[in-house]
Amino acid sequence: MRLGTPLSPTAVKVMLLGSGELGKEVVIELQRLGCEVIAVDRYADAPAMQVAHRSHVIAMTDAKALRALVETERPHLIVPEIEAIATDELVAIEAAGLATVIPTARAAQLTMNREGIRRLAAEELSLPTSPYAFASSEEELATAAEEIAGFPCFVKPVMSSSGKGQSYVESPDQIADAWRYALEGGRVEQPRVIVEGKVEFDFEITQLTVRFQGPGGLIATAFCDPIGHRQVKGDYVESWQPQPMSAAALDRAREIARAVTAELGGFGLFGVELFVKGDEVWFSEVSPRPHDTGLVTLATQHQSEFALHARAILGLPVDTTLREPGASAVIYGGVDAKGVAFEGVAEALATPGADLRLFGKPEAFERRRMGVALARNASVDEARALAKDAADKVRVVER
Ligand SMILES: Nc1ncnc2c1ncn2[C@@H]1O[C@H](COP(=O)(O)OP(=O)(O)OP(=O)(O)O)[C@@H](O)[C@H]1O
Ligand SMILES: [Mg+2]
Repeated sequence: MRLGTPLSPTAVKVMLLGSGELGKEVVIELQRLGCEVIAVDRYADAPAMQVAHRSHVIAMTDAKALRALVETERPHLIVPEIEAIATDELVAIEAAGLATVIPTARAAQLTMNREGIRRLAAEELSLPTSPYAFASSEEELATAAEEIAGFPCFVKPVMSSSGKGQSYVESPDQIADAWRYALEGGRVEQPRVIVEGKVEFDFEITQLTVRFQGPGGLIATAFCDPIGHRQVKGDYVESWQPQPMSAAALDRAREIARAVTAELGGFGLFGVELFVKGDEVWFSEVSPRPHDTGLVTLATQHQSEFALHARAILGLPVDTTLREPGASAVIYGGVDAKGVAFEGVAEALATPGADLRLFGKPEAFERRRMGVALARNASVDEARALAKDAADKVRVVER
């Protein structure tokens, strides 16, 4: 793809579907390469909109609205940043040759539904996963939990992310509550959940994997150093890189990541979520886009996951090498308020090796991610402590 001048006939036009903090960093990287960027989300002044050439507010789950916008803007590339999109329409848009969907429309479609990606990984690619079953009623769930997943298990709506509607179920008497909670947290009318047996892992990682245009016109796959992370209620609170692990486990992790990303196809960066115990590795899920735990790469890599994504989708070479170990710690809203202010920023930035990203979200919620603290240090443990320290110093306050 030949790069051009934004707002001119040579412009490479990129439309971002979803304009959160991850999209914001992708937009900044695309801007650096002179792309024309159009940011879309369901609310105004979303983070990525603030750094794009222009923006649109639409319901991205509305197929007609999505199609109309694509026909008006005529982007070369459509870059999904979230899962909740009318992905069937993306398939139609791709089939009509209107735009290239990153990495592919099928990847967006399969990964927006836990059933699509789990069946692909476990049943078609024979990758190891937790024992699982799907259920469309409380009775089915009770049977599936008993007979397939066992206890303890996790119950998750098939269409949800960031831990929404998810329960950790320790015994049969908690099934009814889990079913009810999943109904509240899922995105669709017809209730459906996955129940997964608990994998007793030592730690979990995100294996960032890039598919890009390699030498000689061949599609190449490159891997970042593994990212360790800690989740609370299905939402990441801190991440670090590299996560120490055995050579055998790392090989296995990359074998799994290669298989699943090759099947999804296209160009771009993927976040492959894996559970690790000793030399054993289980596939959990995959994002066909930058991953929240990969925010750490803003501090640790020569090219962050966002730079890697931007380059890969434009058909450019990538460099996945680690520059220095580091960590990230999430800064939560802590309050429900609009137009919040941040105190303690100078103190946070005085922490050695620390950096910050404040996302600029127009409204804060108690558990909304408003920023992230980053830290670099030769020791990963030290980096984690520094990132947490820096994050703790930032206070979100109402005007
Ligand atoms: N079968 C399992 N065994 C052990 N732990 C699990 C299992 N399923 C989920 N978890 C834990 O819950 C976390 C969130 O699960 P999962 O990634 O499926 O949810 P999610 O809503 O897609 O979260 P996100 O969008 O933040 O990735 C996992 O990272 C892991 O810590
Ligand atoms: Mg996950």
